[in-house]
Amino acid sequence: MNNTTSSPSNKNLVKEILSWKKKREAVILAHVYQPGEIQDIADFTGDSLFLSQQAAKTKAKVIVFCGVQFMAETASILSPEKIVLLPEIKAGCPLADMAPAEKVKSKIKELPKAVVISYVNSSAVVKSLSDYCCTSANAVQIARSIPTEKEILFFPDMNLADFTAKKSKRKIIPWPGFCPTHYLLTRDDIIKAKELHPQALLLVHPECRPEVCNLADYIGSTRGIIKFASNNPAKEYIIGTEMGIFHPLKKNNPDKDFFPASENMICQNMKLITLEKVLHSLKKLEPQVIVPEDIRKKSLKALNRMIEIS
Ligand code: 13P
Repeated sequence: MNNTTSSPSNKNLVKEILSWKKKREAVILAHVYQPGEIQDIADFTGDSLFLSQQAAKTKAKVIVFCGVQFMAETASILSPEKIVLLPEIKAGCPLADMAPAEKVKSKIKELPKAVVISYVNSSAVVKSLSDYCCTSANAVQIARSIPTEKEILFFPDMNLADFTAKKSKRKIIPWPGFCPTHYLLTRDDIIKAKELHPQALLLVHPECRPEVCNLADYIGSTRGIIKFASNNPAKEYIIGTEMGIFHPLKKNNPDKDFFPASENMICQNMKLITLEKVLHSLKKLEPQVIVPEDIRKKSLKALNRMIEIS
């Protein structure tokens, strides 16, 4: 059965969640890859940059982060005085796991003069080793702030590194990491989707392969994709990112048609959060995400530099 916020059992759950949210003085942040019913109960939904900005400025005592580990860690780094809850602690990010801290440390040692930029999809320790943090929404802007003669070491997404290097015209040394969900999308998928929907514009995330990005009408963060589709007069779009984005795209644009570039683009980690788990988190104030203070202080510098620039 399709679980929606409007089914009777979910309606009761949502009521309880909202009452506990009030009791706990909590704010619920949800990434746009979350299941639709989770996005519908959130105070704020958006991309990694927008959600980290909300986490930094919220006055709430508790942040319930409906997303994956690195997002909750980022919220905890920015707001250490708050309780940060990740309703399913096993919700990880395979891309972040592709850059283990020890390997990142030895790469940095090899190139001590390079400026280190880490994508927000990385562990807190990797952020603590970095000069700057970035998200898909501001990677180009951050790279452009680095003097042209400097080399940049970019962790961990090689496709975002490629996109950023092309746009910023900086010398970027990529790390061989990738998001398995975006990596699934091939040039052939795009050609097939374009044959089926010849009028549609192609909007993709920069974690997609370069040969996919080369065919796109727009490349941007999830928030950028939603903004582009909402502001553009075109009526049809092929979307190259995780399927959760269809929820806000359709909700904000009922008069437009959106087609997945591949229906296989589903991040299983993002789908681990359920309404039941959100309620449990609020009731029990667990599982909490806490970043050790020494790592937090160092990673905060990289994050604050990013927030100042963007
Ligand atoms: P955005 O910051 O564009 O939402 O991307 C987050 C992400 O994890 C992409 O895989």
